[in-house]
Amino acid sequence: MEASLTTEKTETLAEQLKRQTTTVHESLDKRIIRARPFDSEQNYLGFLKMQLCFHWLVRPLFNDPNVAALMGNISHGCRFDQVVQDCLDLNLNVEQQQQLLASVLPLKVTAAEAVGWIYTIEGSNIGGAFLFKMAKQIGLNEDRGALHLAGHIDGRAKHWREVKQCINQLDLNSAEQQQMIAGARDAFSFVRHKVEEFLPACD
Ligand code: HEM
Repeated sequence: MEASLTTEKTETLAEQLKRQTTTVHESLDKRIIRARPFDSEQNYLGFLKMQLCFHWLVRPLFNDPNVAALMGNISHGCRFDQVVQDCLDLNLNVEQQQQLLASVLPLKVTAAEAVGWIYTIEGSNIGGAFLFKMAKQIGLNEDRGALHLAGHIDGRAKHWREVKQCINQLDLNSAEQQQMIAGARDAFSFVRHKVEEFLPACD
């Protein structure tokens, strides 16, 4: 039999995650933009409330020993403290933050699902470059209200490349790969629910 001249390129895990979440990501982006979160500080506060819930929920995964066994030390990617600071800057005090978080149930996920959640929250920071620019247009920046949207200390793109490399070197069987994708989709779905709760569409 003649050997095929084309070799099929195997999709990396990061590519799989991107492909499997592109539709939900696009729909979420559009929905967030429809709420005009960067038209005023009041609108932006709704966006921050969503981010507070999302980053609070994912924070334990950054320090989970089972996740660390797979992904190494990724705790420096956690931006929860920065979100808390941004909330304080916009006068959402600790008590009010705790009230918001009281209804968010802690995550119970497998290590493979956790990879999907971490992909989603880390990826949101690469897209966050665009949001950071928009936040600056209403006077917010890393010193007030938008610290969590600033780039990673190692550089936004470099850190994201490292996260993807870290995901791509994982040795996941097909069931675990499915769990990873499900984790990423669940993360998008959680955020979508919080957007519906805190960010009314403006049209
Ligand atoms: C209006 C809101 C948003 C906009 C306009 C937006 C825009 C973008 C853009 C332009 C990128 C590509 C960046 C690049 O490759 O240089 C990106 C990547 C990404 N964003 Fe968003 N984003 C938004 C919100 C979110 C949210 C809330 C999440 C998380 C739930 C999220 C998750 C991701 C992920 C995971 C990636 C990485 C995709 C990949 O390359 O694998 N985004 N976003």
